[in-house]
Amino acid sequence: MIRPPFALARRFVAGETLPEAIEAVRGLNGRGLSASLDILGENVSDPAAAAAAREDYVRLLDEIARSGVDANISIKLTMLGLDRGEGPCEENLRAVLAAARERGTFVRIDMEGSRYTAATLALFHRTFPEFPDSGVVIQSYLYRSRADVAELNRSGARVRLVKGAYKEPPSIAWPRREDVNRSFDELAEALIGGGRYPAIATHDDARIEHARAAAERLGVPRTAYELQMLYGIRRARQETLAREGHPVRIYVPYGRDWFPYFYRRLRERKENVFFVLRNLFRS
Ligand code: FDA
Repeated sequence: MIRPPFALARRFVAGETLPEAIEAVRGLNGRGLSASLDILGENVSDPAAAAAAREDYVRLLDEIARSGVDANISIKLTMLGLDRGEGPCEENLRAVLAAARERGTFVRIDMEGSRYTAATLALFHRTFPEFPDSGVVIQSYLYRSRADVAELNRSGARVRLVKGAYKEPPSIAWPRREDVNRSFDELAEALIGGGRYPAIATHDDARIEHARAAAERLGVPRTAYELQMLYGIRRARQETLAREGHPVRIYVPYGRDWFPYFYRRLRERKENVFFVLRNLFRS
């Protein structure tokens, strides 16, 4: 396949290299926002590629510590070899978690497509007691998420709540947007009321308002939970929320393998396509 030029993705992807990503985080920090850095890339089947991804995460942790930026990391278990089984993946995951612990950095395990949900949660529950400065992601479109949130709240784990970005069948996920939203509101309330420093990750004002109202009703201060958005999306809103006293964290993806992430953002919302096209014709 012909590789499209990176300029197309610049709005949503901080750069193709680590120094570019660190510069982008510095910019966010200057605007009162913290970050979670994500190295782009997905499934690897070869053990050497999983080991290389593990080393990339450790290099990223080193660079966060060296540069002093306000950032943690988000990781994908399929990059650490989950397709080869939980065992080999766990070894890589533990190495990343140990490196993060040494440097005092929080690690978030992203949630991928539904083939990986059970394994991701199993690995998280297995490693969490030893590495409590880690957290996981729950997708409100999955029917199983209510039970997963209850279990994670019982464990005292930090959860990022999202709607979910993958195409899933109606046998396991709500097909209608209204149901995904309703589920999101219920789970946000359960996390804010009974979880540990949850992250409400959405660009949807109605969801943010619902979470804020729930927190107020439950007497939970704004500083006891985080709002999260993606790099390049609703930038003015990110700053307004931070000025209103919310901790706001921006998910900052970077790396040469940016196309699948970029494509998901375009598929999600036609305005994102128009944005890219408008800038393409301007430049
Ligand atoms: P949705 O796309 O339904 O949009 C709802 C409303 O938000 C729109 O109607 C509009 O008002 C507003 N909006 C959205 N985009 C906008 C734009 N570009 N400009 C202006 N307004 C806009 N998914 C996953 O499966 N696993 C994961 O680990 C993660 N991780 C993750 C981290 C973070 C920090 C975020 C924010 C998101 C994720 N996601 C994710 C992605 C998530 O599942 C979801 O696909 C996107 O966040 C899009 O859903 P929204 O909640 O923003 O609402």
